[in-house]
Amino acid sequence: MAEQITREDALTREGFRHACHIMLYGDCSAKLFGKIPIKHIVLMQMRFDGLLGFPGGLVNPSKETLEAGLSRELHEEVGVAVPVGVDNHVSSCLSPSCPRLITHFYIKKMTESELKELERAAVTTATDHGLEVLGMVRVPLYFLKNGGGLPYFLSHSFISNSRAQLLSALQRCRLLSQGDLEKAVRQAEQMRR
Ligand code: GTP
Ligand code: MN
Ligand code: MN
Ligand code: MN
Ligand code: MN
Ligand code: MN
Repeated sequence: MAEQITREDALTREGFRHACHIMLYGDCSAKLFGKIPIKHIVLMQMRFDGLLGFPGGLVNPSKETLEAGLSRELHEEVGVAVPVGVDNHVSSCLSPSCPRLITHFYIKKMTESELKELERAAVTTATDHGLEVLGMVRVPLYFLKNGGGLPYFLSHSFISNSRAQLLSALQRCRLLSQGDLEKAVRQAEQMRR
């Protein structure tokens, strides 16, 4: 696990760049194949480099607050400047993959219709669509036969520590039981062998 620091401590450190990313999620009433409850919409994105990650990006705290910078990045990448506040902040840590980078992570719950509107805007109005962002993706939270669903999703490649951010956010927001989370991680591990 990457080294965690507080948001306040992060902002006092000199010579660091800052990146803010967010998990936008909400409840969902739909059923896959008419029978498997989707339960929740959790949004990630396929990045230009072929890795999965959360929407967001580099923020310059001398020019904008972390949260205003994150809203700006959301406007570029998802087409909607989703308002983000300090109350949406969940963690800040020294990036395990990039020296002198602090990554801040946020979580925000939205309604199903807001999330669907955002998915449309990500294709129609986001300036980064087809460039830095290849598309928004929903995280499957269910289990199908032979590792289908969350285990296969977790077996893909993720930018930096975004996979760990996803797992801790699913736990924090109780979108999955602890047992199901452990099962998904275990099954994903077996696929990577
Ligand atoms: P440019 O507009 O091209 O500068 O990109 P950006 O501002 O959108 O930056 P990006 O989203 O690529 O994030 C900057 C850096 O943060 C990346 O190089 C990664 O090291 C890291 N990063 C990107 N996505 C995530 C994420 O979802 N979680 C975490 N922890 N780090 C990420
Ligand atoms: Mn079909
Ligand atoms: Mn960006
Ligand atoms: Mn980005
Ligand atoms: Mn940027
Ligand atoms: Mn950019």
